Amino acid sequence: MLNNIQETADFIRSKTNVKPQFGIILGTGLGGLVNEIEIINSIPYSDIPHFPVSTVKGHQGRLIFGKLSGKDIVAMQGRFHFYEGYTMQEATFPIRVFKNIGIQTMVVSNAAGGMNKNFKVGDIMFINDHINLMPSNPLIGKNYDELGPRFPDMSVAYDAQLLELAKTVARDLGIPTQQGVYAAVSGPTFETPAEYRYMRTIGADAVGMSTVPEVIVARHSEMKVFALSVITDLGGMEETVAVSHEEVIEAANNAEPKMTAILKEMLKRM
Ligand code: HPA
Repeated sequence: MLNNIQETADFIRSKTNVKPQFGIILGTGLGGLVNEIEIINSIPYSDIPHFPVSTVKGHQGRLIFGKLSGKDIVAMQGRFHFYEGYTMQEATFPIRVFKNIGIQTMVVSNAAGGMNKNFKVGDIMFINDHINLMPSNPLIGKNYDELGPRFPDMSVAYDAQLLELAKTVARDLGIPTQQGVYAAVSGPTFETPAEYRYMRTIGADAVGMSTVPEVIVARHSEMKVFALSVITDLGGMEETVAVSHEEVIEAANNAEPKMTAILKEMLKRM
């Protein structure tokens, strides 16, 4: 593991002179942020040693190095999901590499189903905490003390200052936002009505199939995290509604300009 991280990081350093401090994971339908990046180098995942290759429709796989709002960044265009069959360690390997190449702050976006009664499709939710309902954890197995502690604290998984900044930025831009707890499930099935009710009962505001493994690994290695969800569907409210991948993508695409504006302005002020 340590050797692989080092080899991958060395490879990346040989391909770009950009030394990013910020790592951004572009989630479902949020690829539009790519158009805002002044791209200096881009490396297909398939060229990167030890990187998994993304399989999901609509997820292109490459690492993008460049500038966004004047800051040096690396963006993952396409991420690795547990439901694709990767182990948790494989799915979060890029986050290990982020740390090695000097990333201090990770920004993550995703699409999520909303369970909070006040949410509407298209809302943006800043994640302030999470519940890991996936059947695993990326830190299971041998702990490498060089990477982080055996029993990492998770009392502040989502950086309070970044959350405040996000709220200030959204207010300044006149974009209404929500905040709440993100529950992570393995997928690939969407939730049954009973599962939605269960998740609402245990205190989740939104549910999705990503992000939490990445956040766990980022916090293990003491990177700061800011994460946000686009609410793409509403589960288990008054009536039973079907959810499709297409409507998730459509809602995410519609919310994309708001999301992009917030992230750009946040980076400018960081
Ligand atoms: N459930 C799980 N994952 C999701 C959902 C959902 O309703 N919407 C988008 N990703």
